[in-house]
Amino acid sequence: MQQVRPAWRDGHFRARVVTVKKLSTDMLEVLLMPERSWPTHVAGQHIALTIEINGRLTTRVFTIASGANTRQKEKQIRLVTKVKAQGALTPYLHSCVPNQWVNISAPMGKFIWPKVKKPLLMIAGGSGITPFIAMLDDAVNNAQLHHTQVHLLYFAKPDEHVLLNELSAFSKRCEHFTYDVLTKQKDGDVEAHLCNFANAHWLVCGPHAMFEQVESYAKTINVPVSSEHFAALPVVSNTSLTENETFSLVHNGQSLAIDNQQTLLSQLQQAEQPVTYGCGMGICHQCQCVKKRGVVRDTRTGELSDSAEQLIQLCVSQAVTDLEIQL
Ligand code: FES
Repeated sequence: MQQVRPAWRDGHFRARVVTVKKLSTDMLEVLLMPERSWPTHVAGQHIALTIEINGRLTTRVFTIASGANTRQKEKQIRLVTKVKAQGALTPYLHSCVPNQWVNISAPMGKFIWPKVKKPLLMIAGGSGITPFIAMLDDAVNNAQLHHTQVHLLYFAKPDEHVLLNELSAFSKRCEHFTYDVLTKQKDGDVEAHLCNFANAHWLVCGPHAMFEQVESYAKTINVPVSSEHFAALPVVSNTSLTENETFSLVHNGQSLAIDNQQTLLSQLQQAEQPVTYGCGMGICHQCQCVKKRGVVRDTRTGELSDSAEQLIQLCVSQAVTDLEIQL
């Protein structure tokens, strides 16, 4: 199958690399042409991108930085990402060549243009600008921006703002869209800029610390917030669990001693067990496996599973009892 349809993988879509371009010292733009069966995204959604690195499939999640209109017209989607020197995937994106096939997931996520009749305040930190570029791209083309007042606060380190020419073009095309290009060093924290927008619906995408600041300020003045942040959510503590208990994890006929503090994925990795995984944060489902018996806790919500056979995601599961899984 791989010879007839390169990069064909069950449960994935394929996309061809169109170009990979440097936007700044550490920001890259990747244009992809998804195969025709890929279900078009809604601006603001993300995908899991899988590429083969040294014979091993590696997956990371990226927001699509272009609107659905662009996908329809040009058959392409765009990813814009920061290259992390120690990253598992982004340092290898440079070496992707035009026409190379990669795998992508269906579009995911609920961080999209909200259906509200209020002005919008978009708050972006660093590469968190990408969903807003996609939303504005569609809003300008669909005339949404002609009915809604939108202001963007775009924070990044000095000289690390990207796609400024696109923001400028959006504001020229539509007088309802305005934006500020800000740095913490010069303009202060995000909080200092929020008080003028108490009548708006806020959307925030950026580092966790920024999200927390915005969320806590929004609570004090009772403003609705939609957010997107990809860092793994903090583990929910459950006081009914005894600290540092040890359980046994039976998998494929072997038994491993595990604790109830770390995720199953990290403990299987530490024990050098062969385990498939991707994003490590509960999004891509590559670490999904069958739990045959036992109870696990979802680290994102604190929710407990039942003890029957069911699918679990190793990267967001902790042991609550002895477990048996099928890898
Ligand atoms: S590794 Fe992506 S969901 Fe677990």
